[in-house]
Amino acid sequence: ALISLRQLLDHAAEHGYGVPAFNVNNLEQMRAIMEAADETDSPVIVQASAGARKYAGAPFLRHLILAAVEEFPHIPVVMHQDHGTSPAVCQRSLQLGFSSVMMDGSLMEDGKTPSSYEYNVDVTRRAVEMAHACGASVEGELGCLGSLETGMAGEEDGVGAEGKLSHDQLLTDPEEAADFVKQTQVDALAIACGTSHGAYKFTRPPTGDILAIDRIKEIHARIPDTHLVMHGSSSVPQEWLKVINEFGGEIPETYGVPVEQICEGIKHGVRKVNIDTDLRLASTGAVRRFLAQNPAEFDPRKFLKATTQAMKDICLARYESFGTAGNA
Ligand code: G3H
Ligand code: 13P
Ligand code: NA
Ligand code: ZN
Repeated sequence: ALISLRQLLDHAAEHGYGVPAFNVNNLEQMRAIMEAADETDSPVIVQASAGARKYAGAPFLRHLILAAVEEFPHIPVVMHQDHGTSPAVCQRSLQLGFSSVMMDGSLMEDGKTPSSYEYNVDVTRRAVEMAHACGASVEGELGCLGSLETGMAGEEDGVGAEGKLSHDQLLTDPEEAADFVKQTQVDALAIACGTSHGAYKFTRPPTGDILAIDRIKEIHARIPDTHLVMHGSSSVPQEWLKVINEFGGEIPETYGVPVEQICEGIKHGVRKVNIDTDLRLASTGAVRRFLAQNPAEFDPRKFLKATTQAMKDICLARYESFGTAGNA
């Protein structure tokens, strides 16, 4: 059944688990996510980005998610819009039947320029008014997502601040977060705590303090009823980088957020964990390997099946690690 983000994350908070929010663009991702959720008895958050709408088209995405709900009626599914750049974008998603939207007012509508605090409060409050009127939830964002190591927002073609960010911008301020929630009434808040979008988060193997866990604790203590969201939470599996490069790929050395660090965050109020890059890497590795090992094969279903299995393995691992399993 389709449920709101608030409904799911209230349950997650009560039982102390986190929920991976996977980006979807196509049938194979959707199947991988649902089959893994089915096998582990996990609730699901699927999210559609602006890039996904451009790739698949809003009606196809919507029906893909609704098809998942129809085939797996026993699994709670949140249909979430990722990184909305204006209240108008959120409004269109709500009209399409999304049960949750992200109003990312931390950046201007161009998705690049950091906004003022007042602007963020204004657009987020407007999105909340619309969403709550139709029983949907809103995720806001405060602070600039960026790697604590490199100071960069990430290599995604979607959203992210331009140029090098200051240490101040890279960490959400707990007092500001409290005021933001009071003024906007958001259900969930994406915080800046050292992660960045895309595959190029860290240049060296990350150590224990790669995320600002203390900052997460401080924010959670200040806004205990607002569910925290960690964007840029891909772990960039080294084994998939190896497969990609072994079969013709050229991806330079790079590292993501270790799963154990995300689990530390979950202990301190992180409930929604955004993952896109890991499924992209697994999918690309699987298709490269399959085609290299089966050069005479030309039925796309064969290599797409391999990508589905590779993505499903990542989903299974995250549902288990984050404690999502058993909570559907
Ligand atoms: O927010 C970033 C997500 O990874 C979505 O990326 O806009 O390329 O679909 P995308
Ligand atoms: P990754 O690029 O780390 O997978 O993050 C995805 C994300 O935050 C989508 O909003
Ligand atoms: Na931001
Ligand atoms: Zn994001």
